[in-house]
Amino acid sequence: MNAAEAVNDALGALHARFADVRDGEQADYIPQLTRADPDDFGLALVSMDGHCYSAGEADTPFTVQSVSKPFVYALALSSVGLDEVDRWVGAEPSGEAFNAISLEAGTGRPANAMVNAGAIVTTALVPDTPESPAFDRILACLSRFAGRLLDVDEEVYASEAATGDRNRALAYLIRSTGTDYLDPVAAVDTYFRQCAVRVTAVDLAVMAATLAYGGVNPLTGETVVSAEVAAQVLSVMATCGMYNGSGEWLLRVGLPAKSGVSGGLIAAGPARFGLAAYSPPLDPAGTSVRGRAALGALSERYGLHLM
Ligand code: DON
Repeated sequence: MNAAEAVNDALGALHARFADVRDGEQADYIPQLTRADPDDFGLALVSMDGHCYSAGEADTPFTVQSVSKPFVYALALSSVGLDEVDRWVGAEPSGEAFNAISLEAGTGRPANAMVNAGAIVTTALVPDTPESPAFDRILACLSRFAGRLLDVDEEVYASEAATGDRNRALAYLIRSTGTDYLDPVAAVDTYFRQCAVRVTAVDLAVMAATLAYGGVNPLTGETVVSAEVAAQVLSVMATCGMYNGSGEWLLRVGLPAKSGVSGGLIAAGPARFGLAAYSPPLDPAGTSVRGRAALGALSERYGLHLM
């Protein structure tokens, strides 16, 4: 068996091992997410030489949700630099759920860019001009990470826009503490659109591989962000990407990662690979149950833990 067959076999075996797991609950606070098929389960791995391996429903579209956050953080870092981003959003684990208030006492600065409060600030830091609106820049950036033109699931966007008062409340709370560049209505609307961008597990593996490859997309060869920005993003993913499960994830799986409520999950092996899973049922921290099991087993089996 050659190396490529071995990787496809490994993914296929993980898929077979965890496909029948029935634990977890699909997110329903964004009503349209309940339309996803709970049995869908896709795995994908992209290597630094641009090879793509997959198993199961790796080409099934779903909305990116919080897996967008590290990539928009990368765009904000590239646009205004680490010091300016760090002025408005921190880099400390919050130890709290993704939708918790998580603002630094007194300053209103969100703990990190992976929780919703911090991600809304990150989105608001993306330059917004009439010629190049913030969302157009975000969609273009996510597309460069994925190596193809992505689009928006308008139904999921509308569903979150109709029910997303908690995120609006977070944005108003942040502005009330003095972050006056933030327009709560516009920032949250752009953030909802960003979360509704449609991807597949293969797209997410390419996106994770681009971070792992120092900001260069291994499929297209395009430099999407600098190596410095890619390292900054992976650092925050390692400490904060799995919210209040970040410590346990780093302890057991040992890779920078990011989860999303539609069931997407990425992990990056710096200079080695990008990994992604898709399966809608979630654990209480908002991580795909099958995705978590499969990526954890892969890391254990092949010694992928970074430490
Ligand atoms: O803002 C929200 O609540 C969603 N658009 C995204 C949250 C999310 O994906 C949390 N991750 N597990």
